[in-house]
Amino acid sequence: MKGVILHGGHGTRLRPLTHTGPKQLIPVANKPISQYVLEDLRDSGIRDIAIILGDIYPEKVKEFYGEGRRFGVNITYIYQGEPKGIAHAVGLCEDFVEEEFVVYLGDNLLKGGIASYVDEFSKSNMDAMILLCEVNRPELFGVAKFNDKGELVGLVEKPKVPPSRYALTGIYFFRRAIFDAIRRLKPSWRGELEITEAIHSLLVDGHKVGHRIVSGWWKDTGTPEDILEANRLVLEELQTRVDGTVENQSSMQGRISIGLGSIVKSGALIRGPAIIGENSTIEGDVYIGPYTSIGNNVIIRSGEIENSIIMDGCLIEVKDRIIDSIIGPNAKIISNAKSKPSGRRFIIGESSQIIF
Ligand code: DAU
Repeated sequence: MKGVILHGGHGTRLRPLTHTGPKQLIPVANKPISQYVLEDLRDSGIRDIAIILGDIYPEKVKEFYGEGRRFGVNITYIYQGEPKGIAHAVGLCEDFVEEEFVVYLGDNLLKGGIASYVDEFSKSNMDAMILLCEVNRPELFGVAKFNDKGELVGLVEKPKVPPSRYALTGIYFFRRAIFDAIRRLKPSWRGELEITEAIHSLLVDGHKVGHRIVSGWWKDTGTPEDILEANRLVLEELQTRVDGTVENQSSMQGRISIGLGSIVKSGALIRGPAIIGENSTIEGDVYIGPYTSIGNNVIIRSGEIENSIIMDGCLIEVKDRIIDSIIGPNAKIISNAKSKPSGRRFIIGESSQIIF
């Protein structure tokens, strides 16, 4: 079976982070979201993967994944450009895929992965199989409709009045029948070719469409809050590992991972789960609180950081507590000598400087 990762879209709800790169490359626990997707496909036995590129710095995606060798897969890039819809992106893969394939949105994370579903779908005679997850706000997603017997009878994209609490996750298994359904689509109210409508039409035309309810957590990372929640969910499973240097008088509590070349100086307090990448420095005055991910080559000179993502190359020297924040790569945040300590929240793009 081949795999398709959607790496396009505009990521408008994640600006300014998406002014300098696609949202799927934003790191969660120090790893780009789409790398979890790629590794899930690979670990399910899928080696041939197409990555669909959008028009937000597609070269950064190619630079990161290359031909895929580093990840143990073969990557083919397919250029979509403007986000004309998930179904449009899938339609571009007609020549790439063979009989059956899986489409995985590059901003979706699924605990437990898809290996068992890959196996089940390839042995089945279904034309499509979707994965559903029970959610609190189904109106934000594609939603499944069931009849009185509990059979799947329809799918509707972001309905005002949801017919159930079961959302379509962004993981879809298809056979080639989907391409005819896509060819018949018209753009929706949001101007996109909707994959939800294509699967709905397969269903009403009598094709075999299966559904499974996922058992672990599933996260679509469309907003900063979603990214921070994904970061918490992944860090929840972090194992302690110290490859860097932890000086004697520092205090490490809970599960913490510290990468090669990083140093935690005497006096610092780190309370896990927290991850620190490679070649980063945590000075003695610093407190790093739970659910914090700090990338590579970061310097934290002073301050407190909790429930946040600090990307590669940042410099932080504050008197304050930074909470619930996402700080883009190479940003600098420095407090003015006269500023008073207080809690602050930032969503900051690449190479920004904040002095307050
Ligand atoms: O995450 C699950 C949801 O994903 C489903 O419940 C919905 O039925 C489905 O329509 C989709 O909804 P979103 O509104 O979240 O889709 P979004 O526009 O955020 O795009 C999802 C991913 O696909 C994202 O990684 C960007 C990528 N994409 C999107 C479009 C529209 C592309 O690569 N090309 C596109 O044209």
